[in-house]
Amino acid sequence: MAHQLWLLVSALVLLSSAPTVVATPEGDALIQVAKDWQTSQPSWLPGTDPCKGGWVGVSCDAQNISVISLNLTNANLQGPVPMAIGSLTSLQALDISNIKYSSQNLNNVTGNLSALATLQNLQNLNASRQNLGLTNTKFPEVIQTLSNLRSLTMDHALLPGPFPVGLTNLTKLEVMYLGNNSFTGPIPPELGRMTTLKELTIWGSNYNCRLPPELGNLVNLTYLNCNRCFLWGGLPPEYGKLKNLQRMHFYKNTLTGPIPNEYRNLTSLVELRLESNNLFGSLEPWVIGLPTLDLLNLNFNQMYKSMPPYINRTTTNLTQFLVKCNYFTGRYPIVDAASIPTSELDANCFENPGVNGTLDVQCSRELSCIPFQNYLNSNGGCPPCPKGQYIANQTLCICFGDKTLSTKKTSITAIVGGVVGGIVALAAVALLLICLWIRRRKKFDLNHDFFYTVRDGDKDEPWEQPKGVYRYTLDDLKRATSNFSKEHEIGSGGFGKVFSGKFPGNKTLAIKRASISTSANGQTQFRNEVLLLSRLHHKNLVRLEGFCDENDLQILVYEFMRNGNLHNHLFRKSAGKYLNWYKRLEIAVQIAQGLEYLHSFADPPVIHRDVKPSNILLDDNLVAKVADFGISKESPELHTHVSTHPAGTIGYFDPEYFTTQKLTTASDVYSYGVVLLELLTGQKVIDHVSRGEEYNLIKWVEPRLRDGGIDLIVDPKLEGNYSREIFQQMAELALHCSASEKKDRPTMKAVVIQLEPLLQEADQPQPTTHMVWIDPSDSTYTPDNESIFTGSTTGSSSNHSFSIHSATETHHSTFDPR
Ligand SMILES: Nc1ncnc2c1ncn2[C@@H]1O[C@H](COP(=O)(O)OP(=O)(O)OP(=O)(O)O)[C@@H](O)[C@H]1O
Ligand SMILES: *[C@@H]1O[C@H](CO)[C@@H](O)[C@H](O)[C@H]1NC(C)=O
Ligand SMILES: *[C@@H]1O[C@H](CO)[C@@H](O)[C@H](O)[C@H]1NC(C)=O
Ligand SMILES: *[C@@H]1O[C@H](CO)[C@@H](O)[C@H](O)[C@H]1NC(C)=O
Ligand SMILES: *[C@@H]1O[C@H](CO)[C@@H](O)[C@H](O)[C@H]1NC(C)=O
Ligand SMILES: *[C@@H]1O[C@H](CO)[C@@H](O)[C@H](O)[C@H]1NC(C)=O
Ligand SMILES: *[C@@H]1O[C@H](CO)[C@@H](O)[C@H](O)[C@H]1NC(C)=O
Ligand SMILES: *[C@@H]1O[C@H](CO)[C@@H](O)[C@H](O)[C@H]1NC(C)=O
Ligand SMILES: *[C@@H]1O[C@H](CO)[C@@H](O)[C@H](O)[C@H]1NC(C)=O
Ligand SMILES: *[C@@H]1O[C@H](CO)[C@@H](O)[C@H](O)[C@H]1NC(C)=O
Ligand SMILES: *[C@@H]1O[C@H](CO)[C@@H](O)[C@H](O)[C@H]1NC(C)=O
Ligand SMILES: *[C@@H]1O[C@H](CO)[C@@H](O)[C@H](O)[C@H]1NC(C)=O
Ligand SMILES: *[C@@H]1O[C@H](CO)[C@@H](O)[C@H](O)[C@H]1NC(C)=O
Ligand SMILES: [Mg+2]
Repeated sequence: MAHQLWLLVSALVLLSSAPTVVATPEGDALIQVAKDWQTSQPSWLPGTDPCKGGWVGVSCDAQNISVISLNLTNANLQGPVPMAIGSLTSLQALDISNIKYSSQNLNNVTGNLSALATLQNLQNLNASRQNLGLTNTKFPEVIQTLSNLRSLTMDHALLPGPFPVGLTNLTKLEVMYLGNNSFTGPIPPELGRMTTLKELTIWGSNYNCRLPPELGNLVNLTYLNCNRCFLWGGLPPEYGKLKNLQRMHFYKNTLTGPIPNEYRNLTSLVELRLESNNLFGSLEPWVIGLPTLDLLNLNFNQMYKSMPPYINRTTTNLTQFLVKCNYFTGRYPIVDAASIPTSELDANCFENPGVNGTLDVQCSRELSCIPFQNYLNSNGGCPPCPKGQYIANQTLCICFGDKTLSTKKTSITAIVGGVVGGIVALAAVALLLICLWIRRRKKFDLNHDFFYTVRDGDKDEPWEQPKGVYRYTLDDLKRATSNFSKEHEIGSGGFGKVFSGKFPGNKTLAIKRASISTSANGQTQFRNEVLLLSRLHHKNLVRLEGFCDENDLQILVYEFMRNGNLHNHLFRKSAGKYLNWYKRLEIAVQIAQGLEYLHSFADPPVIHRDVKPSNILLDDNLVAKVADFGISKESPELHTHVSTHPAGTIGYFDPEYFTTQKLTTASDVYSYGVVLLELLTGQKVIDHVSRGEEYNLIKWVEPRLRDGGIDLIVDPKLEGNYSREIFQQMAELALHCSASEKKDRPTMKAVVIQLEPLLQEADQPQPTTHMVWIDPSDSTYTPDNESIFTGSTTGSSSNHSFSIHSATETHHSTFDPR
């Protein structure tokens, strides 16, 4: 008993001898937090009141009763959020972030954060730069229940899973920083309900989606950042409602289309960063005239047409004007360097004042135009030089030479004017004829959204033609082809006849002339198509060099592909020699790359619709390029009421069309699969004679590949010289592509991803002779009535052509930039 009494007394003495020591539950909790998180906090003295004692990083409310803020940035926190933190229920701000660029005392917070559940007064949470993704398989749900949050910062946190749509429950949130995580898409449209938001940065995740137009409702937004978000589609016009927006950052995506006119209303905008996209509108003067705009970055896009002639204080308040690596044309703008200290205009197609009143046009694509490297190669991808100029440097695609502008301008205007009057009568007749066998169909009308100066009905308006291609006169072409003589004829197909033309400078070009004259409407259509074609540049697409739309003729001028079409090579007797297995693999990859580019260039995508070996052409080096793309290809999304016969050729044509009435990018994938099978087997897709019941190549390949293996199907002309493993994979891929249901087919992107490594791992056999000249006596290709519209009164060939190239189509609908 005495012993116990002594203990009690000594305890009391101890307490009274230290009168300042008053333990508080919150102090104890913080000590526990520090312990669990293994952080050393020398100023946190056990047994003292954190609100009275100067605890570093801790602050309390006005009455010093409870802890409201805890700042543990760079405090060397290790491990999960301690449960003890949950008792600090008055906490309003919690900062457990790592400071940008600091490498000292780094926090490494892990775990699921569920300890925060009781902190219902939390307004600011900063967990920036933590490896939360290492221990969470999705966004920590507890965050979505902290209903008083005003600011949430969890960037650089490796957070996985779908974008946390539950955050929309946080109805007071003003700041959301979730950049550089690993979220998957799409960006939920529901975010558009969070009208309290002022700053929204969700950059650096693979969302693979369009920008949701609903974000246009976030009228208090000042900062919107979704760079590197894998965004496609257009800039939503709805964002024109964001009157308070100061910074719009959508750089490094694959956005297409123009800067919407609605953005005129973005009168608070200070930074517009859209660099490294596929935007292809023009730069309207109002953009640089936005009153508060300081930084405009449009570098690395596909913008074109002329731009405001003067960039100075009377036209803009910008201090940074960045437009390099585009296709801008017209005169080089006069930039006032004193008021716009930073400007980048190189690698465009400006006309520079030259000597003696002449103008130089330089379309240069510099090596530093990185995004273009995907699309351009060292010889195939340069935009064609204007007439009288030549490519002085293939690597940089620089054209040199002079061109006098004055005479040219007037001649164009005169031609347009003359043509217009003359064709009206013809137009009516032609239209009537065409309507007999094609009905109107929707397609994307580039007019409406991209080419402000060309409108339907404005036939008198001079056409602002693309400068990247040359506009030939009929005389030019007659001279080049000895008046379209038989000797120059190199082929004929659906569109009409194809001629080779000899141009000054010993240049040979291919000239494709439509077989039927066209209407006035058709002319507008044709011009729009030329505009689209002139923007498609890829090493595996046959390049459009120019055109001629004099009178009612429609003529396209392409680079000349000396080695003709794949059909001729593949089905000739000597195909085994020149098209060895490796070359066939190369060609397969090249076609895939060309198609992939078409599909990803614009939104809606450009659908080829007639992929087949006769539309694959080979250049001097037997590099395959896809031909006949981009002409009157309709958008799948707009193709709701299909009233027309689609283009296409039996055997290559997507069977799903007949049930869905829709042609999509997957239809091209189907055709591609068929071409791939032809490359492997050396057989034509349809062959009633030698394959009988199994006349369709797919039906012939399937059982043989399954039961007998690759050797049973490979082209005997290869005499067994091929890589089994690689051909096996290619055959499986081909059947995958040609699946009868489009949902089972891969995308062209997936095809490229699958094929490219095969090329890398393949050992090229003996070096092949590169120069192969077509021997006309050896199986010259003639279109074998392959059109699916045989039986037409006008004959299959020309019937076919108008469905495909349909230079006369008249139906218009809006190109949806979203
Ligand atoms: N740019 C070119 N360079 C060289 N030859 C070409 C070029 N364009 C076409 N040809 C040749 O002319 C032939 C006819 O081409 P065209 O596109 O008119 O018909 P097609 O491809 O056979 O059928 P379709 O009308 O379905 O496209 C081609 O097969 C090819 O051999
Ligand atoms: C709260 O504590 C601080 C010291 O941490 C002191 O300066 C301040 O006067 C206190 N305020 C009240 C209202 O007690
Ligand atoms: C926490 O402290 C750091 C500096 O150490 C500061 O940058 C940061 O703003 C503070 N956090 C809060 C929420 O006050
Ligand atoms: C952070 O913690 C995790 C899990 O404990 C560990 O795997 C990782 O290596 C740590 N990172 C650092 C930088 O210490
Ligand atoms: C979070 O982690 C703790 C311990 O690591 C566990 O007890 C708890 O169930 C987890 N909560 C959730 C929601 O996963
Ligand atoms: C963390 O975010 C808060 C806002 O929630 C901010 O005040 C604080 O400065 C940020 N911390 C750091 C280290 O930047
Ligand atoms: C959001 O709130 C709604 C009801 O207000 C609730 O049904 C839903 O579960 C909440 N979502 C999350 C993720 O908390
Ligand atoms: C937008 O901000 C203003 C001023 O800060 C505020 O009055 C208004 O309530 C905010 N709107 C919404 C939807 O939060
Ligand atoms: C700009 O906003 C005004 C008022 O909200 C609206 O009437 C106008 O149509 C908008 N302008 C554009 C180009 O969208
Ligand atoms: C530049 O800003 C001023 C206000 O600071 C404004 O009055 C003027 O219109 C702006 N200039 C242009 C070209 O937008
Ligand atoms: C500035 O631009 C205007 C046209 O908007 C032009 O008239 C003027 O000469 C330019 N000033 C200079 C210094 O270039
Ligand atoms: C420009 O004109 C001068 C005089 O007329 C002439 O000597 C010179 O050769 C011309 N230069 C070019 C590049 O045509
Ligand atoms: C083209 O430009 C590149 C880069 O400046 C240079 O390396 C190359 O030698 C040039 N080629 C020719 C043919 O001038
Ligand atoms: Mg063709």
